This record gives sequence, C-alpha cells and structure tokens, in this order.
Amino acid sequence: MIPPTVLVVDDESLIRWSIKERLVAAGFRVKEAESAAEGLAIAREGVDLVLLDYRLPDADGLSVLKRIKETDPDTVVLMLTGHGSVGVAVEAMKQGAFHYVAKPFDLDELTVLVEKGLETTKLRREVKALRASRSEPYSVDCIIGDSPAMMQIKGLLKKIAGSPASTVLLTGESGTGKDLAAKVIHFNSPRAAGAFMNITCSALAETLLESELFGHERGAFTDARQQKKGLLELADGGTVFLDEIGEMVPALQAKLLRFLEEKTFKRVGGNTDIQVDVRVIAATNRNLDEEVQKGKFREDLYYRLKVLPLFLPPLRDRTGDIPPLVRHYIDAFNREFKKKTRGVTPDAMRYLETHPWPGNIRELRNAIERAMLLSDSDELTAADFSIITGGGGPVSQEFKLPPGGIRLDELERSLVEQALARASGNQTRAAALLGLNRDQVRYRIEKFGLVKPEHSSASDKLAT
Ligand SMILES: Nc1ncnc2c1ncn2[C@@H]1O[C@H](COP(=O)(O)OP(=O)(O)OP(=O)(O)O)[C@@H](O)[C@H]1O
Ligand SMILES: [Mg+2]
Repeated sequence: MIPPTVLVVDDESLIRWSIKERLVAAGFRVKEAESAAEGLAIAREGVDLVLLDYRLPDADGLSVLKRIKETDPDTVVLMLTGHGSVGVAVEAMKQGAFHYVAKPFDLDELTVLVEKGLETTKLRREVKALRASRSEPYSVDCIIGDSPAMMQIKGLLKKIAGSPASTVLLTGESGTGKDLAAKVIHFNSPRAAGAFMNITCSALAETLLESELFGHERGAFTDARQQKKGLLELADGGTVFLDEIGEMVPALQAKLLRFLEEKTFKRVGGNTDIQVDVRVIAATNRNLDEEVQKGKFREDLYYRLKVLPLFLPPLRDRTGDIPPLVRHYIDAFNREFKKKTRGVTPDAMRYLETHPWPGNIRELRNAIERAMLLSDSDELTAADFSIITGGGGPVSQEFKLPPGGIRLDELERSLVEQALARASGNQTRAAALLGLNRDQVRYRIEKFGLVKPEHSSASDKLAT
C-alpha cells in the first residue's frame, strides 16, 4: 500500500525538518514547501493532508487555505498558528480547516491530529467515490459544455423535463447529443420511474415499424401468431423516443399524428381504442422544414411534434465546449483503459478547437479514444490527432517538386485560397489547415490581395 502523503508548508526549515522526521518515522511520506506558491503547486498535484503555517513569506496562511479549498474542497488542512492567535484559528476553522495547532506544538499531539486528519481524507474520498458511482447517469450535469449555447440548452432541458407530457422535437447534426438529450429529459422528468422506449424509424420496414410502435392483434398478418403489445403500450407512464423521425413513411406519420392528438390508438388488426399516457420525443438530423416543403413530411405532424423544439448546434459552432469535453473524455478513458494521460499539448488543443468535426461530439470522443490507445506519451500531441482525423500533418513525402519546377508564390496563393474556401472564410480554421496561425494567414491574404469571403464567421468579424 502506498503510504499517505503529507505536505508541510512552513518557511522555517527547522520546523519542517522536525515534523518530517517524526511523520516519516510514523510511516508517512512527507513533501516540503517553504512558500505559499510552492505549497500550492505541490497541493495541486494531489496530497492527502496539508500542514499549513499561518505566516508565510509570500502570503498569509488563510488565503492559501482558501486557494487550496477552491482547488479541492475535500483536502484536509491542519493550520499551524502562532501562540495565542485564537482569532486566526477560529477564522481558519470557519474557512474549512480541519483543525489547528498552536506553535510551539507537541510532536505527539501533532502526529495524532495528522492521523485523524488522514482518516477524514480517506472517508471523504470514499463518500465521493460512492456518490459518483451511484449518481444518476443521465442528470443534466452529464451534458458537458458551458458555452452560452449549451448553458441555454441545459436550462431548457430542465424546463422541458419538468413539463409533464408535451411532445419534444430534437434537431441537430449527427453526433450532437440528441440521444443524450432525450434520456436526460426522460430521467429528470416525473416519468423517470416509467419506461424509456427507443425506436429508430429508419431501421425497420414500414409494417414492422408499425407493429413495433402500436402492437398487433393475433392474426393481424401472416406472422402474427400472438397478440403483441407495442412500444406505446409498454411505455405507458414513460417516454417513447422516436429517432430519425424524418424517415417515417407518410401512412405511419398519419397514425402517429392521430395518437398525438387523441392519446389513443388501435393495435394493428385491432378495433379497440387503447389509451396510454406517454410522452413522445422525436429526433431528426434532417431539415424537417425542407422535408415538409418537398411534401415528404406531413406539415400537421411537424407542427404537432415541435411543441417544444430543441436544436443542438454543431460542435464547430460552440468551440468553447471543446476543452471541457476533451478533459471529460480523457478522464473517462483514463478510467476505462487504466491510463495516466494528463492532457493535450497547447498545439493539440488548438488543432482540436479548429477541426470542423463533421461527426460532432461522437467524432471528438472517438478521436480521443484512438489517440489515447495509440499514444504512449502522457500528453497527446497535435500529430496524435491529425493522423486520426485525417487532416494536417507533414506532407513532405507526398509533395514532390515536378520536373519542370513550380511557381512557389502561385502555389502558396492557391493553397491559402483553398484553405479559406474550405473553412468558409473562417481565418482561424483556415490557419489550422495550413499549419499557420491566424496572423500569418491574414498576412498572406493581404500579400496576395485575396478578398475576404462574404460569409466569414462571427468571430472573424468581431476580431477585424
Ligand atoms: N454535451 C455532451 N456532453 C457529453 N457527451 C456528449 C454530449 N453530447 C453528446 N455526447 C456524447 O456523444 C455521443 C453522440 O451523441 P448522441 O448519440 O446523443 O448523438 P445524436 O445527436 O443522437 O447522433 P445521431 O444523429 O447520429 O443519432 C454519445 O456518446 C453522447 O453521450
Ligand atoms: Mg442518435
């Protein structure tokens, strides 16, 4: 077993030395710091208990205590206070110190307090682990991202979950989190104890989809030897998630509309009206407005479904969510693969923030998973990702100078133009495609007299 680590923050070397001697003899590991800055840096790496002097050369102990508690409120801190400074001790306890010891202290007493403190550390960690393992897997907090768009979506999801039965329409590109949002709505709604039934409309042939949804009576068709309940019946009191609703054929669309309006339906081949209490959540990555215009999707059903519409924006439009998502997935895969990846290099983060992610969060997640499986280093680099996502990387092997030579200037101009076009005029993304920074791209735009495309992104507009 690894012995617990105690950090001693005190500027007097004699005090550090005597505490260290004693605690090492008691079987602990001891790290030392002689300033607040040094102490905070070591504490951030994770220690089991901190012995913190009240008077330090570069800061007072109370502010250091506060900083430690901000990083990890569960850290156990024992304050070393001056003789007679009761006020400080009380203030320290108020700010979350575990206990205090007045100088000069008795080493036996100190050791007993350290042992008690470490016991508390252990308990706090156990409680935390237990809570994490029991926590609701689909709470709103499992949606990562604090960009303004995501904050708004989380707020809406809570409201939608609270509203008992209204139909919801989730739209957004593939991988933007529609499935996740549907589960969050169900599991945070008063229906959470009921069933969550999920069906992908494009995956089944028309008749099969119909009998899956509405059920069938015995003898309704050749294979119907038994009566069968459909998802709507099985989900009574719960939620039915109709994924890829845009693929549903018109005949079924009509039947679904009737159900949404009357709350009753008939099984295939049946005559009795069956009444159920089900919330329907539909999702699509198609543009239903267009499908309606093309006559492929019923307009009345469209309006009936979008009582509560929720659009999940593509990841490239909320790049602020990328760093927390990267952190989240690195932590998750560290647990899953028993790895110790610490993070990504600044270059890699820039790459991830500017990659267009056509597959959105699913693609980002997969990229991190593969990078972590393939990399042996504890920090993921831009190269780890560019190989996986198929972009960037050194091109020296593919680029051979043609026998007749080239006009380097023209080639450069053409490449910059292509990058800008591919990035829809977004200079930051174009820069990433060329392995340059934004200023270097802007310099080339001016050098070659390239006209800025009409629809440059909002961020570029703001910056210019
Ligand atoms: N904001 C988020 N925070 C954390 N994980 C997310 C977030 N959004 C999506 N994910 C994860 O990304 C993956 C893809 O999401 P999901 O399956 O919900 O997408 P989708 O919109 O239903 O895609 P499709 O249209 O292809 O079905 C899942 O693993 C999901 O858990
Ligand atoms: Mg989905």
